[in-house]
Amino acid sequence: MTVKKSFLSKYGPYFLKGTEYTLGLAVIGVALGFVLGTVLAMMKRSKLWILKALANIYIEFVRGTPLLIQVFIVFFGTQIIGLSVSGFVSGAIAMFLNSGAYVAEIIRSGLNSVPKGQEEAARSLGLSGSQTMQLVVLPQALRTILPALGNEFVSVIKEGSVISVIGVGELTFQTSVVQGASFRAFLPLMITAGIYFVLTFGLTRLLRLMEKQFSKANA
Ligand code: ARG
Repeated sequence: MTVKKSFLSKYGPYFLKGTEYTLGLAVIGVALGFVLGTVLAMMKRSKLWILKALANIYIEFVRGTPLLIQVFIVFFGTQIIGLSVSGFVSGAIAMFLNSGAYVAEIIRSGLNSVPKGQEEAARSLGLSGSQTMQLVVLPQALRTILPALGNEFVSVIKEGSVISVIGVGELTFQTSVVQGASFRAFLPLMITAGIYFVLTFGLTRLLRLMEKQFSKANA
């Protein structure tokens, strides 16, 4: 199988556009997902049972239903309530609503990974609740939170392929376009798999590097 130059020069722009959309969706998804996840994690730690319950219901629902269905719910749901948003915006909303639930669990388990004694020791030294969080608990929790957030970013890049079902021109969608236009089924798939792999593998390497720097700085 040879990738003819004409194939790439003809269809390369589709893959490029798709990669842009895929990365755009992932960045928006993880960035907003992080904000939502932080709020949900705080709600889960709150003393108010109602906040805790709402966060729990949300997280369990999102993690217990397929992303594919959530994408459709957001896509058709926004139309039903009269919001006219593009497929890209629907996709980005679905992605961040989904990622938020996963990020909330990442933050929760990161905070739980810090032994209770750390908090007790800090409080007995006279630190306030927020000082204890900022100076003692959070820096230690970040050691587990940051790598897991990196993995979430990788997941979101891959899971973004689901958003092709609502016609958003991300990588997977562009692949079917190229398949249709070129009458070739296999080659576009291989190119797409290669691009996803380069993205996720590159990102994983980068994250490992950052992790090393981080643990050096905190040693
Ligand atoms: N593919 C699974 C689903 O459809 C996992 C989604 C993972 N999402 C995430 N933000 N890590 O539910």
